[in-house]
Amino acid sequence: MIHKHQRTYTHTIVVLGGTGHVGIPYIGEFLAQGFKVRILARSAERVTPRFPEAEVFRGSMMDAEAVRGAMEGADGAFLITPIGANDDTNIELRAARAAISAAHHARLPHLIFCSVIQPNVPSGIPLLDVKLAIEGLLEESGLPWSALRTGCYMEDWLEFRPSLLKRGIFFFPISPTHQLSFTSQRDVSRVAAELLRQDRILYGSLDVIEPAPRTLNEVARLYSEHLGRNVVHAGAFLLPLIKLLRPVVFRWLKPVLASKVLLASYFDSNNWIGDPSQLAAVLPGFRVTSMECYLEEKYEKNTITPEIGAALDAAQ
Ligand SMILES: NC(=O)c1ccc[n+]([C@@H]2O[C@H](COP(=O)([O-])OP(=O)(O)OC[C@H]3O[C@@H](n4cnc5c(N)ncnc54)[C@H](OP(=O)(O)O)[C@@H]3O)[C@@H](O)[C@H]2O)c1
Repeated sequence: MIHKHQRTYTHTIVVLGGTGHVGIPYIGEFLAQGFKVRILARSAERVTPRFPEAEVFRGSMMDAEAVRGAMEGADGAFLITPIGANDDTNIELRAARAAISAAHHARLPHLIFCSVIQPNVPSGIPLLDVKLAIEGLLEESGLPWSALRTGCYMEDWLEFRPSLLKRGIFFFPISPTHQLSFTSQRDVSRVAAELLRQDRILYGSLDVIEPAPRTLNEVARLYSEHLGRNVVHAGAFLLPLIKLLRPVVFRWLKPVLASKVLLASYFDSNNWIGDPSQLAAVLPGFRVTSMECYLEEKYEKNTITPEIGAALDAAQ
């Protein structure tokens, strides 16, 4: 007989809200960890070819019955809540309530929420504050739950406008001087996987961030080191214009981006720092991915040497 704690047991995790660009690294890492992955998606045809190893369930994450179907018999679920349009966070709350209701009915052993690090005082930014509200719902639910709080995703922030990076510009439309905590998404999947393997439930939150915060000026400097050519941050000048356009252009044409404009304004004038000691206390042996490691791995196979950099410059 095979017991859950033996190495041969393959855990099953359901990923909810994982079919957007944010979810892809999470799913990839759960699969790399040897987990059976179930994905709930409204369009199974779109998702199946991308993740042939995963089991794709058709349905909406807003439909508790569909979520329950995907959760039945699973060891845990990883919940990513979708960003609402025009600062309306109802969609995130609806997704969380559906997951909670389904988890109750399916008797899910562990619901893991992909949250964000929280400042000491409420930020007033809907995208950030709603994650705290969802943690509150989970706490009230009586379910076995954990919230993994993430900082700025390396997979997202460091990949912003790669065409400009090739030209020596790390473009991000906020001030480069505030301190921000960063997270490699792979670490979040690894922590979730470890909690499931250990049957460990936090009933609370855990900051999953690299040891030290960074300014975007530092990120540009690190890029310079890894690319072997000068990289500078640029783009802060654009934020006032983006804010000006927000009430008209973004609200009508890019309603989800409109929600992100407020967030960018927050990062433009505040530090956003978590507590890196939490992870060491919960999982002492866990090796956190630093930004240096992330960039090293990314450019390991495709190192741009100073010579190649100079040739690229000359070609422009
Ligand atoms: N820390 C960071 O640096 C960072 C960066 C970016 C985002 N985030 C966070 O990541 C999370 C996810 O962002 P995202 O941009 O990946 O989300 P998203 O693409 O808007 O949504 C993810 C998935 O949720 C489902 N979904 C979306 N709207 C739905 C609706 N109305 N009804 C039913 N299902 C719906 C869709 O799945 P199907 O179509 O397959 O059903 C979609 O692919 C957010 O909570 C955001 O705050 C964090």
